Amino acid sequence: MKIELSEKLKSFKPFLFEELYRKERAEKAKGKDIISLAVGDPDIPTARGIVNCAVSEVRKSLNHRYPNTKGNENLRKEISAWHKRRHGLTFHHSDEVSILIGSKEGIAHLPFVVMNPGDYCLIPDPTYPTYRTGVVLSGGRMYDVPMEEKNAFLPDLGKIPRKIVDKTKLFFLNYPNNPTGAVADIHFYKDLVKWARKNSVIIAQDAAYCDIYFGKPGPSILEVPGARDIAVEFYSASKTYCMAGWRIGWVVGNSKLVCALNQLKENIDSGPFNAMQNAVAYALKNHETIVPPIREIFRKRADDYCKGLAEAGWKFSRPGGGCFIWARPPVKCASLDAVYFMLEKASVLTAPGSGFGKFGEGYIRFSLTEPDAKLKETLRRIKTLDWGKLGK
Ligand SMILES: Cc1ncc(COP(=O)(O)O)c(C=O)c1O
Repeated sequence: MKIELSEKLKSFKPFLFEELYRKERAEKAKGKDIISLAVGDPDIPTARGIVNCAVSEVRKSLNHRYPNTKGNENLRKEISAWHKRRHGLTFHHSDEVSILIGSKEGIAHLPFVVMNPGDYCLIPDPTYPTYRTGVVLSGGRMYDVPMEEKNAFLPDLGKIPRKIVDKTKLFFLNYPNNPTGAVADIHFYKDLVKWARKNSVIIAQDAAYCDIYFGKPGPSILEVPGARDIAVEFYSASKTYCMAGWRIGWVVGNSKLVCALNQLKENIDSGPFNAMQNAVAYALKNHETIVPPIREIFRKRADDYCKGLAEAGWKFSRPGGGCFIWARPPVKCASLDAVYFMLEKASVLTAPGSGFGKFGEGYIRFSLTEPDAKLKETLRRIKTLDWGKLGK
């Protein structure tokens, strides 16, 4: 029998980062000493206290039973306590907080609970690719909202066509931003909430990088009065605590949306391993000692990398947070041409801006999630490149 895959599946392009992993493996197999800065996967090990907590939690037989889809109460209460300390916000742990199998999972599922075929979802361009997944699967339509450097990589809400806004159900945003490194302040969120309430648009703000900031800590969109009527915010343990492999994230905010997402998930998954959830609860409880050293590592890496790229003639806006530098090469060229040129001539793999959307064309994303010595070596190699030889 010939197996025919679904039309929906065929409409997906391979996930950008999987493509880049494949490229890296193929080049390494040829014996090349490739350094990859293509993917944002923190190299810093998870703090020892978190690991020790997880080990003792794994030994508890109660944790070997099915978890609760919306997450265990211990973690949901710690999340509420953390948001109170950090943003001064109170979330009721039973219906305004839900645990996810990494924030990616919740982001991919959210469109199913609000979108009907034909509804629009606004997608930032450039974007984290997973915002598209649930929209495609729920039969929704997408409108790409330009995030341009001249606007500090914030959306120009007034430029989104009225006929699109009228059919829009959902808008994904992400600050501190992957890939641009842009941050949003409370004034931006106030305008956004006003616009969203007026136009009946649900906002899903993705705060995966909220704790990797290089200036003042950024606000939550939910600090804006009335935001809770229309918004949810996604969080992740992956970058904040360098726990990417542990697969824990969470969503907070509008209780109708949080409960609806949970209702959907009850029919799909059973939540993450309770031992891992309790380890993240420990991380949140000890946040103020665990996170500052991690933030400092990324701040220093961002400083050093910006300095090195500027010396090599690259152009960029300094990131306000996150794990990436979003920069344009010394000569104007297509992102993919620059990626292949650097791979071939310097054995450095990076992510092409065009892979994040049309407005990413011309940019390269450097990930700062490799050890300092490797980052330094990539800069040394990049500085040797003769961009006049690109395409020759
Ligand atoms: C903007 C953004 N949101 C969400 C995620 C997913 O994070 P998690 O590991 O929690 O699924 C990532 C991961 O790279 C990301 O860059």
